[in-house]
Amino acid sequence: MSLDAFIADLDALVADATSKFAAAADAAALEAARVEFLGAKSGKLKDAQKGLGAVGKDDKPAAGKKFNEVKQAIEAAFAAAQDRSTSGEGVAATGPAFDPSQPGTRHRLGHLHPLTQTIEELKDIMGRLGFTVAHGPEIEDERHNFEALNIPKAHPARDPLENFYLAVAGKVHGASVQGSGLNANPEPRTPNPELLLRSQTSTVQIRVMEAQQPPVRIISLGRVYRPDDADATHYPMFHQIEGLLIDKHVTMADLKSTLRLFAGSYFGGEVHIRFRPSFFPFTEPSVEVDMQWNDRWIEMGGAGMVDPNVLRAVGYDPEQVSGFAFGLGVERVCARRHQVTDIREFYRNDVRFLEQF
Ligand code: DAH
Repeated sequence: MSLDAFIADLDALVADATSKFAAAADAAALEAARVEFLGAKSGKLKDAQKGLGAVGKDDKPAAGKKFNEVKQAIEAAFAAAQDRSTSGEGVAATGPAFDPSQPGTRHRLGHLHPLTQTIEELKDIMGRLGFTVAHGPEIEDERHNFEALNIPKAHPARDPLENFYLAVAGKVHGASVQGSGLNANPEPRTPNPELLLRSQTSTVQIRVMEAQQPPVRIISLGRVYRPDDADATHYPMFHQIEGLLIDKHVTMADLKSTLRLFAGSYFGGEVHIRFRPSFFPFTEPSVEVDMQWNDRWIEMGGAGMVDPNVLRAVGYDPEQVSGFAFGLGVERVCARRHQVTDIREFYRNDVRFLEQF
């Protein structure tokens, strides 16, 4: 073997080793490259050393010198690659280690809360019956929560113990008090008899009728608030679906068939509904609505024919139009359908519970 051929082989070997060390994506690849070039038994450098014996006698000193240089260069390239690997930069000089064949990291996808799913479904069902969705504020005044709904001043439903009246910065001795109330000398706060967290979605009936003339065909879904202790069937905040239909010649039969269609669509199949005589100030006659499901009667809420006083309060003529209204508990229908026995589960935010829906 000529000296030139020997040197050319060694130069190619250095270039090859340097690029393989640099391209090794992880520690295992780097080790494989080390064995390939520097392996004591069958590494390529070892093979190249054998060529030394084939070089002519006179060329041996130059060939030996070249071999030592190449050996050092390859070892240095390996050491540099190893440094990069252990310093966390990634071995490959071309970028961070990335192995497209590794399984990815799965992201956990959430989904809608069961009550939100129920609300969407109820909107859908009532939408098919021609009811559009109306909204109202959660902070209400007494007119919309009580007065226009025919709930007079002395009615027990207006008791401060039954409602979340809002305390606001009040007037003391005729002087207006300013400030946040969080300072060392808190300003006096008086319960404001005007505002409260709505206790029922029936408030939206009034807001809609004030804003438009008959016919009316709306539902409203949202949160309501009552100072109840939380237990398996109560919570200080819950959701209602309110329905209101006002037109000429509306009768109790329309109410009953609407609620039957509603129950049949939500629970599926033939659902019996039962009306029990009851009293609500804003309906006459009033009923409580039970629905039969899985051989049990489930109380869903209240309903009735809109009281003429309510129609008058919003400027409608009870001689011209009549209507029905209903208010059902969203937690209640959702819980019964999914066999949830404690409505507090809906608010614990425990993923193990929520992910079942
Ligand atoms: N607002 C009543 C409640 O919170 C439910 C209700 C009863 C709503 C009769 C109505 C109705 O619209 O007609 O218990």
